[in-house]
Amino acid sequence: MFLLPSALAVRPEAKPARASRGRVEIRNLTKLYPGSDMHALKDITITTEPGEFVVVVGPSGCGKSTLLHLVAGLLAPTSGEIYLDGHRVDGPGPERAMVFQEHGLFPWLNASQNIEFGLKMTGVPKAARREAVARALEMVHLSHAADMYIHQLSGGMKQRIAIARALVMDPAVLLMDEPFAALDAQTRTLLHEQMQELAVQTHKSVLFVTHSVGEAVRLADRIIVLHSHPGRIRREIRVSLPQPRHVDSHEVNAVVGIVRKEIEDEVNRVHSQMARVA
Ligand SMILES: Nc1ncnc2c1ncn2[C@@H]1O[C@H](COP(=O)(O)OP(=O)(O)OP(=O)(O)O)[C@@H](O)[C@H]1O
Ligand SMILES: [Mg+2]
Repeated sequence: MFLLPSALAVRPEAKPARASRGRVEIRNLTKLYPGSDMHALKDITITTEPGEFVVVVGPSGCGKSTLLHLVAGLLAPTSGEIYLDGHRVDGPGPERAMVFQEHGLFPWLNASQNIEFGLKMTGVPKAARREAVARALEMVHLSHAADMYIHQLSGGMKQRIAIARALVMDPAVLLMDEPFAALDAQTRTLLHEQMQELAVQTHKSVLFVTHSVGEAVRLADRIIVLHSHPGRIRREIRVSLPQPRHVDSHEVNAVVGIVRKEIEDEVNRVHSQMARVA
């Protein structure tokens, strides 16, 4: 698969035919951690369409990471179900790849070997692995870094290798928990561009968590604002602005304002609830 250089904007009409997989159905999902008296998530129902880029935002502690971990199958729900393309999620699986804030790359392997690792584990033959790794490196514009070790990469390069490692498994859905949170503003902007290109080129479904409202509006087809204590859906906002979006544009800023207001109202609601309890 060939990816356009980041300087070349990908126009919305360049989107390939809609993806045929990556439909996530979350039905009445509830999570109560053992020993806790407050639900981390309560009665969450969301369906994401194949190829859709869904971003989850909300105040700290509202259950965003819990939601991703449940979809990844790393946590079991207290009640409710999750289906991916009609198959019930009951544990981790290669069709759901997770990218964390901390890249989690192996320091004793070079960039290519890190990307190759999952393919090796699943018994993919060497020649096919080599080809897939080269393609994944190309997708994140890091072909030149194939032989570099993790300590030789910048923060942004590490995250791109982590994304390549997830993409190489050809998952139906990418689950991303604040993947760019630790990066500086310029690197983030570059990765937003590349992430949006990847979404267009691969037409992967993405479930993405962030604290940055600008990032959410830059990338999302749909934004889900969570309510906290317990985590519920407060509002869904469809972002139908054409891509690529410019963070400083009037249209983007208008949506940012709407999402920010929802989160601020939610934070104020939690504070006044706490004040009443105290
Ligand atoms: N392993 C755990 N055991 C008990 N409670 C937990 C556990 N993990 C998370 N929680 C609680 O569940 C709630 C949701 O946590 P979660 O980490 O999903 O929030 P978040 O929205 O990702 O927050 P942040 O924005 O700070 O990353 C919080 O109240 C948290 O304290
Ligand atoms: Mg979190």
